[in-house]
Amino acid sequence: MNICIIGTGYVGLPSGACFAELGNNVVCVDIDEKKINELNNGKITLYEEGLEEIFLRNLENKKLKFTTSIKEGLKNADLILIAVGTPPHPLTKEADLKYIYAAVRDIAKNLDHYAVIATKSTVPVGTGDEIEKNLLQENPKAQFDVISLPEFLREGFAVYDFFNPDRIIVGLNSQKPKKVIEELYAPFKNKSQILFVNRRSSETIKYASNAFLAIKIHYINEMADFCEKTGADILEVAKGMGLDNRIGNRFLNPGPGYGGSCFPKDTQAMAFMGKKNDVNLSLIDSAIKGNEERKDKIAQKILSCIDDLKNDQVAILGLAFKDGTDDCRESPAVEIVSKLLKEGVKIHAYDPKAMELAKSILKDQIKYAKDAYEAIKDSSLLVILTEWKEFRELDLNQISSLMKHKKILDFRNLLDKEKSLEAGFVYSGVGR
Ligand code: UDX
Repeated sequence: MNICIIGTGYVGLPSGACFAELGNNVVCVDIDEKKINELNNGKITLYEEGLEEIFLRNLENKKLKFTTSIKEGLKNADLILIAVGTPPHPLTKEADLKYIYAAVRDIAKNLDHYAVIATKSTVPVGTGDEIEKNLLQENPKAQFDVISLPEFLREGFAVYDFFNPDRIIVGLNSQKPKKVIEELYAPFKNKSQILFVNRRSSETIKYASNAFLAIKIHYINEMADFCEKTGADILEVAKGMGLDNRIGNRFLNPGPGYGGSCFPKDTQAMAFMGKKNDVNLSLIDSAIKGNEERKDKIAQKILSCIDDLKNDQVAILGLAFKDGTDDCRESPAVEIVSKLLKEGVKIHAYDPKAMELAKSILKDQIKYAKDAYEAIKDSSLLVILTEWKEFRELDLNQISSLMKHKKILDFRNLLDKEKSLEAGFVYSGVGR
C-alpha cells in the first residue's frame, strides 16, 4: 500500500518507519526542511528505542522516503495519515488545530485521486466532519473518505506498541474505507483487535482513554500522600489494589505528576470540550489541578531538605518526562527544577537521554553531568525525578562516598528503602 504521512514528530516518524517495515511504500512529508534533509541523510531526529534500525533499513531499501513536497507525498497514496501536532491553545487550552487545517488545505489543493484520509493526531470530537467540509470547500471535486485512526503509542515504547497494539480503533462514517484499513492491519490480525466505531466515538475514545489514565495517576498520587500521613506503604497498597483485575496493576506508580506531550494537553482539551458542551467533567478538572499543585508541593519538599541554600548543591537524576525518551515537554522534572532555580538552588543534573533537550530549555542555569555519579559528587541532596531503570542500579556505597550529606528524595521509588536506610542515608520515597 502507498501511504503518505504528514508530520514527522513522535507519532509520524515511528508510524512511518514501522508501516514501511511491514512492506508499505511510505512517504513522510514535513514543512521543516532541515529535518527532512537530516532524515534523508540517515540522521534520525528523535530518540525512540529500536527505531533507528528500522528507519535506516527502510530508508536504504527505499520503502521510506522523506520530502517537503506534499504533491510528491500524495502521488498514488492510498492512505494519507495526518500526524501533525495539536498543541494547547495558549489562552483557552483547547486543542489548536491550525496545523491540521494547514495540512488539509495542502491535501485539498494537491489530491487528484481517491484516497482515505485519516487523522492520527489527537483531535476534538467533530474534527473529522470539519475536515470533510474544508476539503470540499477547497476542492469540490476531491474524492476521499475521512476517518479517525487515533494513535496510542507510548513514547519510548513506540516501536513495541506499534507491533503489539492492545487495540486498533477506527472511526468511520461509511463502509468504503474499511477495505483499506483491513489491508493495512492485515499483518496484525491475530495479535490485536480492530474496533470499528463511528468517527465521533473514535475521536472521543482517544481523549477518554488519556484522561482516564491521567486520573488514575492523579488518584495513586493522592493515595501516596495519604500513605505518607498514615504510615501505610503505597507500594504495598498499589500491589494489593492491582491484584483486582477490575483495577489492574498498571499505571499505579506514584511520582512527581504526569507530563509529556499528551496527558497534560489532552486533559485540558477534554476539560474545554466538557465546558463547551455543558457537561460536568469534574474528575478531569480535579486531575489537572492536582497535577499542577503536585509539582509545587514537590519543589517545597526539596527546598525543606536543603540546609544551606548558598553552599549546598542538589543532584537531580532525570529530566525527561518519563523513562525511555529524550522528550522534556511538560516534564515534571524540568518544571520542578525551574521552580528550584527561582529559589536560588544550585543544581547538578543528569539524564541518560534528555540532556540536549533539557539544555535547550534550562540553558546554563544548571550544571550538566556526564553520568549519575558525577551529578551526585559533592551534592548534599540527591533527588530522583524520572523513572529510568538505570537509576535503580545505582551503587549506594559509591553514592555514599561521593555525597557531602547522605540525603535522598526518591520521587519514583526506584531505590531500595531498607538498603538506603541501612547504608546510613536519610531516605524519603513517595508514599512510604
Ligand atoms: C500516553 C499514552 O500512554 C499513550 O497511549 C498515548 O498515545 C500518548 O500519551 P506517553 O505520553 O508516551 O503516552 O506516556 P505514558 O507512558 O503514558 O506516561 C505519561 C506520564 O505519566 C509520564 O510523565 C509518566 O512518568 C507518568 N506516569 C505513568 C506515572 O507517573 N505513573 C504511572 O504509573 C504511569
